[in-house]
Amino acid sequence: MKKLEELYSGKAKSVYATDDADRYILQFRDDTSAFDGKKIEKLARKGMVNNVFNAFVMKRLEEAGIPTHFDKLLSPQEALVKKLEMMPVECVVRNIAAGSICRRLGITEGIDLEPPTFELFLKNDELGDPMINEYHIASFGWGEAQHIERSRELSFAVNDVLKPMFLEAGMLLVDFKLEFGLYRGEVVLGDEFTPDGCRVWDVETREKLDKDRFRQNLGGVIESYELVGRRLGIDFDEATAVREGVDS
Ligand code: TMP
Ligand code: ASP
Repeated sequence: MKKLEELYSGKAKSVYATDDADRYILQFRDDTSAFDGKKIEKLARKGMVNNVFNAFVMKRLEEAGIPTHFDKLLSPQEALVKKLEMMPVECVVRNIAAGSICRRLGITEGIDLEPPTFELFLKNDELGDPMINEYHIASFGWGEAQHIERSRELSFAVNDVLKPMFLEAGMLLVDFKLEFGLYRGEVVLGDEFTPDGCRVWDVETREKLDKDRFRQNLGGVIESYELVGRRLGIDFDEATAVREGVDS
């Protein structure tokens, strides 16, 4: 596998072309961003931790029958993924009220949402990722109705796999954000699933173990990400020993 030119550099990951027209290399950098890029810092080990964390979760989702773009880990900070045509839409599932829903609807943080709720946001930092609905997506051509419907179905399927998995490991999966794209006409989970894009609380103490530690300056950000991973059974040392043939 040959790593070719950088195609896109996001706030925390970069995307590279490869000599396979159907594959990209995702590079997880140490950069951490919040509030649509208004707060940015480099945190040591973050790229490795998120890459390995993402690989673990994506594999679990694949095993449960959810199509993802993940192929394999290539190195501590790189993964090989299928090349998707991404929809500029963020799908959020919430099991417990936290973050923007509390501000928007005047709800107290920590209330159980039963059944879990689902929201759509436009991926646009300049506009602050505004909330949108299916009609906006249709009118502005951000995605086809059937693909959004499928994204919602898959988002709840992801919740059905991950919520019990986190609970068994002593954690509450409060909410998470997913991004989907098309691969050969099929809706497939893309982007990442890491503590950067979800909220996770300790089930006993309700201590925040996710990116809210960075947003709220609580400290111990990467230590917390690693703790979440270790509780789920991830061995970061073993995973970082991987180095598959990538020629730059
Ligand atoms: P919110 O409470 O800010 O709307 O976020 C809900 C969840 O989605 C939370 O776990 C953070 C995640 N999220 C992102 O990862 N990126 C984003 O751009 C947004 C809007 C949310
Ligand atoms: N993911 C967005 C950002 O990096 C929003 C956030 O996480 O606060 O800016």
